[in-house]
Amino acid sequence: MSIEVKDIAAVSEQQIRQLVDLFYDKVRADPELGPIFERVIQEQWEPHLRKMYDFWSSVMLTTGRYKGQPVAVHKRIEGLEIGLFDRWLALFGESCAELLDSETASLFWRKAVRIAESLKFALFYRPDRPWPPIGAP
Ligand code: HEM
Repeated sequence: MSIEVKDIAAVSEQQIRQLVDLFYDKVRADPELGPIFERVIQEQWEPHLRKMYDFWSSVMLTTGRYKGQPVAVHKRIEGLEIGLFDRWLALFGESCAELLDSETASLFWRKAVRIAESLKFALFYRPDRPWPPIGAP
């Protein structure tokens, strides 16, 4: 199914803020992801959330508000293992389903899956090893 103008119009900045807030509430409560985020972000949750509103606004509404380098940033995160991406996506999917109608949820979901795949590839792909990695948790 291709993305049409009416689908893009269905996404609002308010939905983005609500989705980001709900998702990071879940992340912070998660026993595996929570400690990684708390260690890196510490007292800086407000700026992090604002950055993520900008990120999703750029992704979903092509506003260009996010100007960053997610690959470089994630490379520096200690303890970021490839197996954690499934958990990240599960919490993101739950958040979409709880907040959004199914069409809008699937617009966000498909973008998240694609970005997660490209991040995983950029972070973990090695030319001398099989892809996807065999035996990754
Ligand atoms: C297991 C998976 C992931 C973990 C543990 C993780 C963790 C983090 C952490 C700790 C930060 C804050 C870094 C800092 O401020 O120095 C961050 C930033 C960010 N994350 Fe993730 N992340 C994951 C997956 C993703 C995915 C799938 C996306 C996109 C769909 C994403 C998008 C971003 C963006 C845009 C930033 C801001 C980068 C910047 O500072 O410009 N992350 N992530």
